[in-house]
Amino acid sequence: MPDITYLSRHEWPYILLVCGILLFALYRYRPAERRNVALTILFLIGGLIGLSLGHLAEAHGMKQAAGILVELFTIILGLVVIRLFGLALFRLGLAALRIEPPRILEDVLVMVAYLVWGLVRLRYAGLDLSQLVTTSAVITAVLAFAMQDTLGNILSGIALQLDDSLELGQWVKLPDVSGKVLQIGWRSTLIETRNGETVVVPNAWLMKNSFQLVGKRFNGHPLVWRRWVWLEVSWDHPPARVLELMHMAIRDAHIDGVASEPPPHAVLMEMRDGIGRYALRYWLTDFLADDGTDSQVRAHLVAAMVRNGIPMAAPSHNVLMTKDNDKTAAQRQEVDLERRLTALAGVPLFADFTDEERRHLAVQLRFAPFECGDVISREGAVAHWLYILTVGEVDVWHDYDTPTADLLGHLKAGSFFGEMGLMLGAPRTATVVAASYVECYRLDRAGFEAILTARPSLADTLSRILAERMAENHLHSRDKLSTPASPPQAEVLERIRRFFGL
Ligand code: CMP
Repeated sequence: MPDITYLSRHEWPYILLVCGILLFALYRYRPAERRNVALTILFLIGGLIGLSLGHLAEAHGMKQAAGILVELFTIILGLVVIRLFGLALFRLGLAALRIEPPRILEDVLVMVAYLVWGLVRLRYAGLDLSQLVTTSAVITAVLAFAMQDTLGNILSGIALQLDDSLELGQWVKLPDVSGKVLQIGWRSTLIETRNGETVVVPNAWLMKNSFQLVGKRFNGHPLVWRRWVWLEVSWDHPPARVLELMHMAIRDAHIDGVASEPPPHAVLMEMRDGIGRYALRYWLTDFLADDGTDSQVRAHLVAAMVRNGIPMAAPSHNVLMTKDNDKTAAQRQEVDLERRLTALAGVPLFADFTDEERRHLAVQLRFAPFECGDVISREGAVAHWLYILTVGEVDVWHDYDTPTADLLGHLKAGSFFGEMGLMLGAPRTATVVAASYVECYRLDRAGFEAILTARPSLADTLSRILAERMAENHLHSRDKLSTPASPPQAEVLERIRRFFGL
């Protein structure tokens, strides 16, 4: 029967009591640590049995064997107690205070405690520590030299953990791989890629090189990652229309993994070789599904383009050879004229024009597209053109670009502007700005005069609208003194007639 009376001597009852309480608390409140608790109990019991055997041997006069057994198992029990205190401190105490130091810190502290405990026991055993320190310094230097790389990795691992540059579950991009951080170990970090591969990256590499942490957080929203999906469309199609379709296609599609906030955004990135390169930038929420979500976005974009008669640009370089003879030139002109006639058909001002008159007008027009925000004509400038608005909308501003800017009016497709300057021979009275993508046809003074001469009744309609607009502006003006009161329509008409010598 082993001698266990020593357990009632000295500090043992207290140590065992504290160990019991800690083990119970860990078992009860940290279910994840139950394996560790079981192992600790096993080592504790093993250590106690060993120690008891040592004391038994002593009682039987086997002094040397007893000395070795007692010392060995005292060291083992000490290590077990240190491990248990480490577990309790980090997994119970600090966790209760919501402090979560990196696991490596716990490991390092426990290792240092093991070392101190070992040295203390050696000192008890009568070893000269100063001699040991010198010897171990030499051994350490030799070992450190031999294990340079490994130590570098270990220290890098500690640094990575301490400076919070990497977190478990974070998405990272290295030059050759991108994936999720699975584990940050002593020597290496494991990164799981989308293809199910686990890449082992030495910690020292991560310390020495730059790598990307993927994703951004917008005030409290989940982490999102901006993706670019490219689309190539021939530049025959107005960019504003293509961009609008791209926006609508993705906004209306509600694709899983595409964040609604911040919203997707389409941009024209490049114009080259007859092709416009567009990119739709959206924010991805599920990083694992990057390719799949890109593919869905691409499919929606292509479908939207096809629905709206905008084919993808051909990837080949076509050399278009056209023999420009009279016939082809006439065909081209005819197509262009048809387009102008269709545009003019939507303008009420010319509603009672005969086909002949409309054709005559159409050939004199100049096509002028504008992007949203473009200034089409500026207040105070000399007037050269009458503008017929066939696509989009415009805003009419007084004092545009100044703090006192005043919105005078808003015109839609089918209306016209620029008549005041052109008909009265005065500077532009307002600045007209495209409020969307806009298509206009411009008519110069000579063309305008020819049409007025051919159809004098047009001067009546125009002078009426002009007088109405002037009256509106006069009413609207904050600084009434600076805006002339509108002359009556008859006076306007008279001024027009005089100006054009009608
Ligand atoms: P013009 O003065 O040549 O250039 C600016 C144009 O804006 C002007 O001709 C009109 O055609 C147009 N315009 C001015 N005031 C208004 C208004 N109140 N509503 C609509 N259009 C206007």
